[in-house]
Amino acid sequence: MPSADHPDHVRYNFEYERRLRACFIGAGGHSFRNVYPTFRYAPIDLVAVCDTTAERAASYAHLFGGERHYTDHREMLERERPDAVFIVTSYHPDGRVQATDLAMDALAAGAHVWSEKPIAASVAEVDSLTDASARAGRFVMVGLKKQFFPTITKVKEIIESPAFGRASSVYLRYPQDMAPPAERADLLRSRWLLDHIYHPGAIIHYLMGPIERLTYEWEGWNGGSVASLRFASGAVGTFHMAAGASGSSPLERLEVVGEGANVVVENGVRLTYYRKATRPAYGRGASFIIADETAPLVWEPEFSLGQLYNNNMFLLGYAPEVLHFAEAVLSGRPPTKGTLADCRAIMQLYEAYVRTPAGTPVAIQPTDQ
Ligand SMILES: NC(=O)c1ccc[n+]([C@@H]2O[C@H](COP(=O)([O-])OP(=O)(O)OC[C@H]3O[C@@H](n4cnc5c(N)ncnc54)[C@H](O)[C@@H]3O)[C@@H](O)[C@H]2O)c1
Repeated sequence: MPSADHPDHVRYNFEYERRLRACFIGAGGHSFRNVYPTFRYAPIDLVAVCDTTAERAASYAHLFGGERHYTDHREMLERERPDAVFIVTSYHPDGRVQATDLAMDALAAGAHVWSEKPIAASVAEVDSLTDASARAGRFVMVGLKKQFFPTITKVKEIIESPAFGRASSVYLRYPQDMAPPAERADLLRSRWLLDHIYHPGAIIHYLMGPIERLTYEWEGWNGGSVASLRFASGAVGTFHMAAGASGSSPLERLEVVGEGANVVVENGVRLTYYRKATRPAYGRGASFIIADETAPLVWEPEFSLGQLYNNNMFLLGYAPEVLHFAEAVLSGRPPTKGTLADCRAIMQLYEAYVRTPAGTPVAIQPTDQ
């Protein structure tokens, strides 16, 4: 079976012998663009679609091959008895995440759950889902797509290789604002912080492991911030929420420094690995061209051929994350990425920002993996 992390030979849906019977809750914009289409590359049979708006549920079922549609997810779960449920919904009027209760219902109906992020709005809610998942004996996986970017997967491989040395520091830039401190605990004011922190949070946790201490500073013009992080591993880092950046700018920049080596990802798709190398002699070296054996390695996709690897479904991790989930369910082995433990660590980060004033160090209790 091709690995979801290295899909060098992706199978098309109809080429699988065994497929999951899946239901889908939510027929909105993101799922239309980025989640339903991934089923073309995973062992998934879409049997039914549910949306509170009947016309959308019917249209999505028609378009993506679902046999039936519903407006009540409980009725769908009861009648269809699916192996797995995909949930891509939104927020309640009070700012809570709709997927939290829907995932509980799906687990109670005996289905494995794949949910888009965010799956919850607090550490306590993630813990309830973890308990419910264990009670039901069913997996919950969350769409932490960044953990499936080919570039981020490769960074993980590089920083864990002996040649890189220990990952000693990290810098991550992501344009996100935070509400003023007095308003931040209000879920409605922190909607986009909650919605987006899963993206940089997923990268930081995946690459560097648990954060044990955090301090941040906040500016009031754009709501941007810079945090200083210390990881349980002993490494340090900076998380720069670059609110105020131009809408024409790439969103992300990532750099991890090892011991004599570093790796950079620009814009999610351009990866440069500066391997351990000696700098040309100071004041004497006439050329910056260093030996081929230690020269930097650069990867970026070509955009000429109609390939899978240059399609956003793969570049942005959507198809690999769905494949990872389907493989986990079919093999009976829990997902190793997009886990509830990852989400718990991300919610700890969120709560640290929401509950702690700028300039005050906050200790974070590591989550057992
Ligand atoms: N990973 C990513 O790249 C990415 C990008 C965009 C959005 N998202 C996430 O995707 C989710 C959806 O975003 P969106 O912009 O598509 O939202 P949306 O509002 O367009 O879609 C949500 C849909 O869920 C339906 N819904 C809500 N409650 C329901 C219920 N109980 N039963 C059935 N249907 C229900 C709504 O009717 C709506 O059609 C959000 O969690 C967002 O954070 C992720």
